[in-house]
Amino acid sequence: PGNGYEAWLQYRRADRGTNDERFTEYHHIVASVQDEVMRSAVDELSDGLKGITGRSVSITEDAVSTPCILLGIFGASKAIDQAIDADTARAVKAEGFAIQTDSLTRNIAVGAATSAGLLYGVFHLLRIMGAGGAADRLSLVENPVNPLRMINQWDNMDGSVERGYAGKSIFFENNRITGNLERIKDYARLLASCGINAIAINNVNVHRVESRLLTEFLPEVAKLAEIFRSYAIKLFLSINYASPMELGGLPTADPVASDVREWWRLAASNVYAAVPDFGGFLVKADSEHRPGPFTYGRDHADGANMLAEALKPYGGIVIWRCFVYNCKQDWRDRTTDRARAAYDHFRQLDGSFMDNVILQIKNGPIDFQVREPVSPLLGAMPRTNQMIEFQITQEYTGQQRHVCYLVPQWKEILDFDTHLQGMGTPVKRIVDGTVHGNPYSGFAAVSNIGDDTNWTGHPLAQANLYGYGRLAWNPELSSEEIAGEWITLTYGNREPLYGIIQDMLMSSWEIYESYTAPLGVGFMVNPDHHYGPNVEGYEYSPWGTYHYADCHGIGVDRTTATGTGYTSQYAGPNREMYESPATCPDELLLFFHHVPYTHPLHSGKTVIQHIYDTHFEGAERAERLLAAWERVKEHMDEEAFRQVADRLAEQAEHAKEWRDRINTYFFRKSGIADERGRTIY
Ligand code: GCU
Repeated sequence: PGNGYEAWLQYRRADRGTNDERFTEYHHIVASVQDEVMRSAVDELSDGLKGITGRSVSITEDAVSTPCILLGIFGASKAIDQAIDADTARAVKAEGFAIQTDSLTRNIAVGAATSAGLLYGVFHLLRIMGAGGAADRLSLVENPVNPLRMINQWDNMDGSVERGYAGKSIFFENNRITGNLERIKDYARLLASCGINAIAINNVNVHRVESRLLTEFLPEVAKLAEIFRSYAIKLFLSINYASPMELGGLPTADPVASDVREWWRLAASNVYAAVPDFGGFLVKADSEHRPGPFTYGRDHADGANMLAEALKPYGGIVIWRCFVYNCKQDWRDRTTDRARAAYDHFRQLDGSFMDNVILQIKNGPIDFQVREPVSPLLGAMPRTNQMIEFQITQEYTGQQRHVCYLVPQWKEILDFDTHLQGMGTPVKRIVDGTVHGNPYSGFAAVSNIGDDTNWTGHPLAQANLYGYGRLAWNPELSSEEIAGEWITLTYGNREPLYGIIQDMLMSSWEIYESYTAPLGVGFMVNPDHHYGPNVEGYEYSPWGTYHYADCHGIGVDRTTATGTGYTSQYAGPNREMYESPATCPDELLLFFHHVPYTHPLHSGKTVIQHIYDTHFEGAERAERLLAAWERVKEHMDEEAFRQVADRLAEQAEHAKEWRDRINTYFFRKSGIADERGRTIY
């Protein structure tokens, strides 16, 4: 208790608002367990009820007393078919569920078409109970909006986690797969509880040892798959494109070479022998020094299709990442624009990928910055499966030392209207597969967990993992609703605690943005580890991430008229909106335009005054976050309080460093003083 390990699955009795008494009569579960997923559902419900009601729980196959909680599959459970009418049952899709309270008996029925649906139904019911909802009026149907709801671990087998800020890997240590399967199981529970149904367990950068997950480590991979299977989560592996050479000793990894194709066919057949429901391969190829088909003069479709063919007989899929760009660019070269790269590489390949290939596209064209426009590749390939990739781990958003609740950012991206099929073609409808009728689509995101006891280092960063899952399940949920659920399940819903944390979370992204890189320009971080301010950290580097500040102005001209032409990758109205500084939204101005410091924003301020104001305010607001947290002290466990307080203190200090570096830099470049005469160095 207090150490954060149980996260949002605490099932505590105390402090559950006004209604928790309503559930104390439920301590009897009726279910006949058919498989391991249903076993998990029943176990979870039993543990959850025990915690919430404080009573011991009985489980029987038939109802022996009322009120009880009935679990069952439609058509297989008489009790469920009686409790839930046929029309409601028909509305429940493969992973969905219905929950219904009988007003006479007060029995709660959870019905689903599959045991996965039942598991999600149980977690949903426990969420309602944990929030003190009313049991007597339950009548709901839920179906996940996105077919794939995936987590990508960036874990390496030496135990390190790429861009991990919460300790070491829970999956690997000393170049072996962990023996601590309890922790893996608890992770599976956390993921399943918010609707995740797929996981790639190793980093997309696959090095020598990790390549062998496909071969000698398969028996242990199978053990992990077994755990995830019992929570309805499919296991995927990131693969090394050069495996036929590195593991198979072949002279080439050319996707059209028949021995290479044969090598992958055999590899797939071995994987499926060990893990019959294996999900497939996640691939980072021809990206940041990773091998790929380019070496052999082939394109991404050749590469992906070769793997897809090997997986096809088993129902497996290839998830091919579109994070492909020139990372050895010359900063003097103004014609190459990294933002264009994904679209320029992939768009032309529309229609040439097999139907079990999905392209995984980062939410923005650069790299998970605090503010970026939406990737124009999303939706631009009507004949190709696509999924969106988010980053839960806070690489560029404070590395879990700063609080930054990312759900509002993801919501903005999902709600963005691409106009690709006229008005009303938002990103969320593209990635859920409805716009183009794709067989595969959905969400992927880089996990933010490690072996820290509380999983995420910063306790408030748990809200991002939870929120990601909930949003993948239903992108219509609001940021406030999701934050509210998380706070209630984690800290309880009593005031003033609830309101204080809600305000902190809801303002945190804006605060972080306000004291870091301004107006969508990005980066300004220290090279390599990406923590902390360094305005020119990437200005003369080969990574393609520049802001071009001089004594007159700042920003990247990505217009079609005078710049790199990136704006032309958007559909009509968006292209026009971004093309002109008059219509470009303020928050993205410097992503699209190079403007003088005196350029007036829509807000009425000049660019330079905006920079000063937001940085002074941002640092003050970061300090106020700490002050706000002090007010919850008396309402929570000492350890839980301290974990957040320490980090907020660091954030407040570090925000000042950001403020002073950025303000000083631009004051010295522009020579323009702050209108309000505040201290700039
Ligand atoms: C970023 C990140 C890398 C990561 C890469 C990727 O560039 O800094 O660590 O490997 O994204 O998404 O592949």
